[in-house]
Amino acid sequence: MTAYEQLQIRLAQEPATWLITGVAGFIGSNLLEALLKLNQRVVGLDNFATGHQCNLDEVQTLVTPAQWAHFQFIEGDIRHLADCQQAMIYCHSREGGNPPLPNHPVDYVLHQAALGSVPRSIADPLATNATNITGFLNMLVAARDAQVKRFVYAASSSTYGDHPDLPKVEDVIGKPLSPYAVTKYVNELYADVFARTYGLPGIGLRYFNVFGPRQDPEGAYAAVIPKWIASLIQGEPVYINGDGETSRDFCFIENVVQANLLAATAPNPEAVNQVYNVAVGERTTLNDLYAQLQRHLLPRYPHLAGAQPVHRDFRAGDVRHSLADIGKAQRLLGYAPTQRIGEGLALAMPWYIGQESRDDHRTS
Ligand SMILES: NC(=O)c1ccc[n+]([C@@H]2O[C@H](COP(=O)([O-])OP(=O)(O)OC[C@H]3O[C@@H](n4cnc5c(N)ncnc54)[C@H](O)[C@@H]3O)[C@@H](O)[C@H]2O)c1
Repeated sequence: MTAYEQLQIRLAQEPATWLITGVAGFIGSNLLEALLKLNQRVVGLDNFATGHQCNLDEVQTLVTPAQWAHFQFIEGDIRHLADCQQAMIYCHSREGGNPPLPNHPVDYVLHQAALGSVPRSIADPLATNATNITGFLNMLVAARDAQVKRFVYAASSSTYGDHPDLPKVEDVIGKPLSPYAVTKYVNELYADVFARTYGLPGIGLRYFNVFGPRQDPEGAYAAVIPKWIASLIQGEPVYINGDGETSRDFCFIENVVQANLLAATAPNPEAVNQVYNVAVGERTTLNDLYAQLQRHLLPRYPHLAGAQPVHRDFRAGDVRHSLADIGKAQRLLGYAPTQRIGEGLALAMPWYIGQESRDDHRTS
């Protein structure tokens, strides 16, 4: 049995209390779904900056009413310390004339809320800084004061910046190439200082390119996989920035959920106050990604048979190649990714296709 399988059994037997920030977003809503399915108590915080109510509604349809009753949502903003503090306690709702149940302090924080996207940060560095650095610091302060057992946070592969070495190993980073990358690196520095200064046990997860259901296909800052699938289905041009030989280590969402739960509960003291790559350890070029998406969609969309991508200029701030060494997470967390890119695409495709055919798409 894997470490993750053992953990799932343990959690289902002994429910804990979790805070997910950014819970209405892509990764946050997937964490919510996984935790509720394990009968955990979850507080969720989000201001809907880039997240959607429909993501929460969808999770509600995927869990039982009893599991959903263990979710407490707070519409709030991590740029406000009071909102972060409020989210550190799970309050039972009082039903009927029953006496109130005791409140639960949050055991584990999974901090996902941030403004993602390199180009967004280049267009508006102040907004990215306010949420990703000031908001992050607020969360650290609130978590420290609430004496949570673990503060797990979304770091990023963008921290490797201009360092040319492949595969990326946690200790060897370059200079950041965008304001977004600066914010994610500052998160790591702050978490480390809070561990040393206040004893807050933190773990940073450097996500590589994550994909899966509920990843927003819309907007100027959409990620490549949902954006390309939407364009292909709609018969719109797919743009590849550069020659298409740019490569990424694409990571299916279930692997990211696994890494978060393992990081929150890792018993080994050596595993704490560390950062980890969260990826698969395989590299896919954009040209190859395009071909894979086309192959997955072709049976249902025959118009894609002769479709070709349009190449345009490289994009500012983009890293040329990205490939993770996942040995550290395997060793210290027991992380064992369950899906490679092809399996992840096969699992995610029905959601993407359903999303595109939905009339009221993203109106909520
Ligand atoms: N998706 C990836 O490939 C990837 C890669 C590396 C790192 N990350 C990081 O993972 C985290 C989650 O990313 P995602 O892909 O789910 O993005 P997302 O945009 O879907 O989710 C982010 C969520 O945070 C919320 N949020 C933003 N600002 C907030 C604020 N001030 N207060 C409260 N909530 C706020 C948004 O409304 C949204 O629901 C982010 O920290 C991101 O930087 C993601």
